[in-house]
Amino acid sequence: MRSRLTSIFRQKSTSQFLTVGLTGGLIAGYLFSKHKPIVHAESKTSIIIGERKPALPTFSMTEVAKHTTKENGYWLAYKDGVYDVSSFVENHPGGKQILKTAGKALEACWKVFTIHQIDHVYEILEEYRIGNLPPGEREANAKAQEEVLDLFQYDPERINANENFFIRSERPYNAETKPSILVSSFITPVENFYVRNHMHVPFVNINEYKLEIGNEKSAYSLSYDDLKDKYQSYTITSAIQCSGNRRSAMNNEEQGTVQGTPWYVGAIGNGTWTGVKLRDVLESFGFDKEGKHVQFIGLDCDTSQRCYGASIPIEKALSDDVLIAYKMNDEVLTTDHGYPLRIVVPGTVGARSVKWVNRIVVSDKESDSHWQKADYKVLPSSIKQPQQVDYDREPALQEFNVQSAICYPASSEDGNKVKILSIKPNDEDIKNQKLTIKGYAVSGGGRQIQNVQISIDHGKTWFQTELEQLAQPYMGAYAWTLWTYRIPLNDLPSKPFDVMCRAMDTHANSQPDTPLGIWNIRGVMNNSWHKITLQIDQNFPKSKNQNRTD
Ligand code: MTE
Repeated sequence: MRSRLTSIFRQKSTSQFLTVGLTGGLIAGYLFSKHKPIVHAESKTSIIIGERKPALPTFSMTEVAKHTTKENGYWLAYKDGVYDVSSFVENHPGGKQILKTAGKALEACWKVFTIHQIDHVYEILEEYRIGNLPPGEREANAKAQEEVLDLFQYDPERINANENFFIRSERPYNAETKPSILVSSFITPVENFYVRNHMHVPFVNINEYKLEIGNEKSAYSLSYDDLKDKYQSYTITSAIQCSGNRRSAMNNEEQGTVQGTPWYVGAIGNGTWTGVKLRDVLESFGFDKEGKHVQFIGLDCDTSQRCYGASIPIEKALSDDVLIAYKMNDEVLTTDHGYPLRIVVPGTVGARSVKWVNRIVVSDKESDSHWQKADYKVLPSSIKQPQQVDYDREPALQEFNVQSAICYPASSEDGNKVKILSIKPNDEDIKNQKLTIKGYAVSGGGRQIQNVQISIDHGKTWFQTELEQLAQPYMGAYAWTLWTYRIPLNDLPSKPFDVMCRAMDTHANSQPDTPLGIWNIRGVMNNSWHKITLQIDQNFPKSKNQNRTD
């Protein structure tokens, strides 16, 4: 693995690189050969990132490498430029590690700034510019870059991932399932299940692995086998959905662009999860008597040992439904999905289902991780800069809201980019003289989906879809619903037309028609009506749909 990565690293290495001064001397970042000068739309001037700026002071790499701590600040060098990136490292756990190791500087900045437009990323980097490297130093450091410590070395090989996923970033790996694949089976196969990693996949030696369970006063530990052998196992079917699912559809001209990975509709999957009940484990150690929250800590930690973590209220933790899972779809968890153990909190935003969990702490306090305290919160729509928020006043997301999306027909192109989808009804549709539309729906907190409807006239009339769902207990409906509707071909206009869907759960919660009322800068919990625009292919046999209206 090591040599494979090193060779990838070498192949990609060019004279353009990002160098980060971090613990242990010069640890380098990366290279990116596609970088072009930025041309500002208004001024038409161009900024070449990392270009020598004679007016600025000079700092040697030795100096840069001293700035690797909170006290000294975090500096990095890119090409001939020196940057003080302390403020974003402090604001974005994982950022330092990503800058240090992630490979592509673009991804590093993307992650850190959660902005997906390449030019903006570079533009922002330049705002942190404080100086230049001495002439010649950039080249001298090229060799040191090959020795970069690669925390991502245990990320698995993801063969042909492009076939099933829209890959939103490689390091950390973030990939969403293509829509038509999502609705092709009620249980999402492991190899098609979206992956949302905030950092690297950690290395686990299962013989040494221990799960620690404790509170502020005492702690116990269980091996992987202990956990499986000593507690009864249960299997549940549950969707896991990232609260950023459908984030990209929250961008709008009135309120602006939201920040974060631009998920389309595929940051969701429906799996079976086998494991032990969190409640049983807490009870067995007497940790069910006090505490208000149960915190989960993962093994994916940055170089300052800040690890991914989250917490849930004790009431949910002691419910029947939260698992410490070791199997997904009846197979041992894969490394991307949390091997050896992950938490599954059904009906709750995916961020709380902590993967690679190795500590569980019962406490009066919520997890103090960035992802509990300062992310995965719905900020007021007036907030345009997440840095300006008093995060303690905003509650951490737990249950998700009612959601639905159209997944078929779909293009294999990135759903965010397809404006009009030209379709040819398939053979079965031609035979039935109907166009098949399919999608998923799900609600949080175990609420079952009551109905899903579609409209082709912008919400004036709605059609009830056919639902595929499991019989599940009251407030225990954690599996998603798949739905289908077949529109008579003769009802379809020959011009492009919109198809919209909306779902309602058994508590009469329904989806808002637009994201305007729920817009938030972090783009979480977008559950507005999902819309796609279709155009029936002109080659479609005219005799079959000659009555189509315009
Ligand atoms: N757990 C750890 N340790 N590290 C992570 O980055 N991501 C969370 C959650 N658990 C994450 C984690 C988020 S935001 C989501 S949406 C789900 O895992 C995604 O789970 P999946 O990758 O198995 O689909």
